[in-house]
Parts: sequence; structure tokens; C-alpha cells
Amino acid sequence: MNKSSKAAKKLWKIGSKDFNTQYFDYNKEGDLIIKEGHNIYNVRYLAEKFGTSLEILMPFVIEERLEDFLDLAAAISKKVEFKGKFFYNYPMKVNQSKEIVMSVVGEGAHLETSSYNELWMVKKMLEQEKFNPNIRILCSGPKTDSYINLIDELQHKGVKIFPLIEGPNELKFLQYSKYDVGIRLDIPVKASSRWNKPVDRFGFSAKEILDMGSFKNLKILHYHVGSQIEKLNDVLIPIKYALDVYFKLKEKNPSLDTLDIGGGMPIPYERTKGYPVEKLMERILKLVKTESEKRGLPHPNLICEWGRYMVAPAQITVYKVIDTKRIKHKASPATKWYVIDGSFMNDLPDTWAIDQKWAIAPVNNKRDGNLNEVWLAGSSCDSDDIYKGLKETLTLPVFDMNGENDGAGPMYIVVFDTGAYQTSLAAQHCMLSSPMKIVVENGHIVVVKKRESAEDVGKTFGW
Ligand SMILES: Cc1ncc(COP(=O)(O)O)c(C=O)c1O
Repeated sequence: MNKSSKAAKKLWKIGSKDFNTQYFDYNKEGDLIIKEGHNIYNVRYLAEKFGTSLEILMPFVIEERLEDFLDLAAAISKKVEFKGKFFYNYPMKVNQSKEIVMSVVGEGAHLETSSYNELWMVKKMLEQEKFNPNIRILCSGPKTDSYINLIDELQHKGVKIFPLIEGPNELKFLQYSKYDVGIRLDIPVKASSRWNKPVDRFGFSAKEILDMGSFKNLKILHYHVGSQIEKLNDVLIPIKYALDVYFKLKEKNPSLDTLDIGGGMPIPYERTKGYPVEKLMERILKLVKTESEKRGLPHPNLICEWGRYMVAPAQITVYKVIDTKRIKHKASPATKWYVIDGSFMNDLPDTWAIDQKWAIAPVNNKRDGNLNEVWLAGSSCDSDDIYKGLKETLTLPVFDMNGENDGAGPMYIVVFDTGAYQTSLAAQHCMLSSPMKIVVENGHIVVVKKRESAEDVGKTFGW
């Protein structure tokens, strides 16, 4: 198989808005480039200059996505005459990197924290005066004493904090607080998301909530059925269920005015087209409007917490192929292992944990144009530290580390959409160093996480 640069773009689905790859292209030399308006970053050059494994964070991608999303929500609200307010709360758990949190907040996002430590970062922003007092913070996750105390401290300082009650112990503390609260509803529906469990450990059933009696301070009814919800209807069915509970709950709790639908908007990791966000937003806002008007009641305000959708495409991870090995097994659809200088188990742990698929392409594509089917092997000693592609194999340029005349220099590969969850879940099996992280924006390249030395990694283990 022989591929020109144009065909390469098509094969690896580069330059396509449907797959969030409109920021990438191959130049004439066959190198992958990142385009930020007039600023161009050559990924091969970055890999050579900074070394691999390398994470490249692109805050401009988040800024553009969030700006587009908030404009879309406003335009659709107007079109369908949705009268509630719409809030986007970025769930910090998806990626707590400072550059990301500062980017979303700068574009008008509110925040959601899931732990004391995340809320402590909010406190730090406040102390550094990097905080707009209009930002609303939702606090989810089980509340330890220190988390409750920090919520209280920030509420006293005038920060708009809404603890979301998830369990009976929190209920005791928060139901009679003088500040606003939300409560989490456990929705008994099956959605096409691997996180949607038959028995949910979070929140309360509709009956439990409706039997609780009235709260003077109840503002928000919240639920979250799962991340990466593959079918549009599976987003809408829980909303309909929650609206029914919301309106019943409002009879006893007139202060209730907001429905928070959690996360769920998916990313096309597997490069198949899902449902467009425009269509989903229109269906959501129309549903909320219709259900309210059916009951003759005001439209609730709406919160969504779609973090993966916002940040996954804003980071790529680059590795160098450090060895190639023939696969001799006849039944194997791949003919070679490409061994990389990083680890799927460590740096992209969802590969191992949840069989996450990633779109992968060559960074430098100027070999002889021939392609082969390969599997990737990470650098840890673990037989699970592998990635076999979207459909049993990966198509990558032929490269033979041990061949005589390859002559085109090292081969680098890029993993797309690595901006969600992977950093906080990352590990250091075999004491491998984590990838170095750089930020590219406004034509500048800044190192935000240096390459870890053996000594740095050793410190984690008490050396
Ligand atoms: C309460 C809550 N909100 C939002 C999210 C983020 O969802 P997504 O992965 O769709 O961004 C999560 C993810 O676990 C969550 O638990």
C-alpha cells in the first residue's frame, strides 16, 4: 500500500471537524503540524527538541470549543425559547492541570470539584486573585470533614458554592445549612455508557428524596448517569425522569430552580461519527421547555458538566518507536510490534482499565509510503502494556529499526484526544518516567512539566 500526504490525511482522519482534528495537517515533508490560526507547530520538530514521551497541550482548542459551545447554548435557547439560565460547570476531575482550568474559567465556565484537594485549588485561585466572584462552584463527591470545612470557609468568604448532597451523613450537615445546596438523584435507567451501573452508589432514589421533607435551601437537583454516552436518547431519557422528580420536589421546595444533568457528551475516539452537539442541545432545551410547559411551571435553569467533551481533544501524546519486532504467530492480524518509549498502562491507563480506544497516526510520514499493520507495545515489563488499535490492528508506515536502509530517521507516533482523565489516573509501573508536558499557544512553547529524572521518580518511592 502506498500513500501520498493527501491520502494519509484521509486514512488517519486528520483535518476533520467531525473528529476534532481540524487543528492538524501533514506538511509537504510529511510531518504532522498543529495549526493555531497563523501559528504552526511542527510536531516532529517538537519531539526532536523536547524528546519523547511528550504530551502537547493546546489550550486554544479548549477556548475555541467552550466559546463555540456557550454561543451554541445561547443561540439554541433563543431559537427554542428556553427561558431558564444555562450554566456550564467544568468538572475538574477530568483534568486538573492549571492551564486547562485557567482556560475554561477564562472563557466563562463555572467549576465542579469532586474532592477537598480540588476545592483547595479553587481557594488558591481565589487567594491569587485569579478568580471571578461570579463563578459558581458545585461540590460533588463524598464529603470528608476537611471538605465540608473548606466548603464552609469559602461560603463565609462569599464564594458561590453549592455542595451536592450525595449521602445520608452529608444530608445531616447540609440540609439545615444557611447556604444553598443541591441533592443528587440516583436514576434507575440503563444508558449506553460503561459507567452506568445497575446498582449506583451515588445519591438517593426519587422516593428517598421526595420523602425527605422540605429543605429551605434546596436549589439544585443533580444526577450523573455516566461519561461517554454513546446514544443521544440515553442522554434524553434521564433528563425526562429527572424533570419529573424536579417538578414533584419543587412543590415542597419552592427554592429549587436548577437541574444539573452531569456529564456524558462523548468524544469520537473511534473515529465514527456520533450525534452532533447542536442536535443534542436542541433536543435537551426543547425537552425541558415542553416538560415545564406541560405542567404550567417556569423552565428550570440548566447545568451541564461535560468535561471530557471539552478537553479530550486539547492534548496529544507523542512517542518514539524504539524497537520493531516481527510477529510470527500465523493467526495474528498484525505483522509487527512497534515498541514505544512510554507506556499505555502508565500514561494512558484507560487503555488497560477500560479498553479505551485511541486514534493513532504517524508524526513523520515521509518514508517510502508503504504501510503495514502493527500492534504497539509499551516500555513497561507488563504483557498488558499493549495497544492493538481501533479494529484489531493499527495501520502505520513501514519501519524496521533493525533493517539496513530505512534512512528516514526515527519514527514518532501521535495518540489523539488524550486530554481527559489520563493525567490524574497515570501511574509509574517499572518506575518509568511520565511524559514531559509542553503547552503550545499564541506561537509560544512552554514546558509545564519537566522530564522526570530517575531521582525525581525515586522520590515518590522514598529514595
Ligand atoms: C458528577 C460528575 N459530573 C461530571 C463528570 C464528567 O463527565 P464527562 O466524562 O462526560 O465529562 C463526571 C465524571 O465522572 C461526574 O462524576
